[in-house]
Amino acid sequence: MKISNLRFVIIAPTAEVLKWQKAFAAVAPKVHLEEGPKVRQPETVDVLLLWNHPPGSLKPFSNAKLLYSLGAGVDHLMQDPELPKGIPICRIVDPLLSFSMSNYILFAILHFHRRWKKYVHDKENCIWDHDSFPERKIKIGILGLGTLGQDAAKKLQFMGFDVVGYSPSKKVLPGMTTYAEGEMNNFLSTINVLVCTVPYTPATRGLLALPVFEQLQHPACLINVARGKVQVEADILKALDKGLLEEAFLDVFETEPLPKDSLLWSHPKVEITPHIASVTNPQAGATQMLENVERLLRQTPLEHLVNSTKGY
Ligand code: GLV
Repeated sequence: MKISNLRFVIIAPTAEVLKWQKAFAAVAPKVHLEEGPKVRQPETVDVLLLWNHPPGSLKPFSNAKLLYSLGAGVDHLMQDPELPKGIPICRIVDPLLSFSMSNYILFAILHFHRRWKKYVHDKENCIWDHDSFPERKIKIGILGLGTLGQDAAKKLQFMGFDVVGYSPSKKVLPGMTTYAEGEMNNFLSTINVLVCTVPYTPATRGLLALPVFEQLQHPACLINVARGKVQVEADILKALDKGLLEEAFLDVFETEPLPKDSLLWSHPKVEITPHIASVTNPQAGATQMLENVERLLRQTPLEHLVNSTKGY
């Protein structure tokens, strides 16, 4: 069997569909990427490319052999109670994703470390303040040591920052103190910059809340590039107003797009970006996906497989 004999269907928002169709046309012109969920003879479709598909819409694809998340996260798939069981699920793990994510995290940390907000304010007011040059002393905690978290941790360490990490199962990383399940409080109480890169699962839902912020050293900074539902926005606002947090860099939100009436928009200590910290490059993603489909055809182990029990 050849890849060009397989049927590929994409179910995603229209703008995404167009991007992926263009990428497939460039890297695999013989593969026709059909837009779903409504296609002829869904039972003959082999590979499904998915981003926020309507729950329940995968049922007719009764002989699908592979489900592919069009991003690094798979929470959008796991939320479908009717997700077909027993079919391998893969996700995009791409060096370009790590590159962008780490750069976003580095940018936010340097912004906080060098008190960039103060200098923006001083410039606006023509203030030349040479004497109070205050680099913030920071100790960074990476919450979530998956591919993205580890890449950021390594780069921050290379730059000379003091970095520790947490993941539910113990990770041994050269030159870095790591904490595991049962040690969350020790992890939080040693750091003042909390970077969240965890997957969204029932275990991480609402994790970034007051009890977490209360344990951080001061001045504390939160950077969330994971998923909005991992944070409790009302608690972030309270923590900022109480001084438990000095600044928050948020790329993700409980509801996206962030509603116009959210108090986060106007809060002076909140930096907002519209879920763009790291955006999948469809051309790199398509190449990786096709390599994995080749593996499927050769019956060799797939890469970037999702553990459905863990949910990531
Ligand atoms: C983006 O948020 C992704 O999961 O790739």
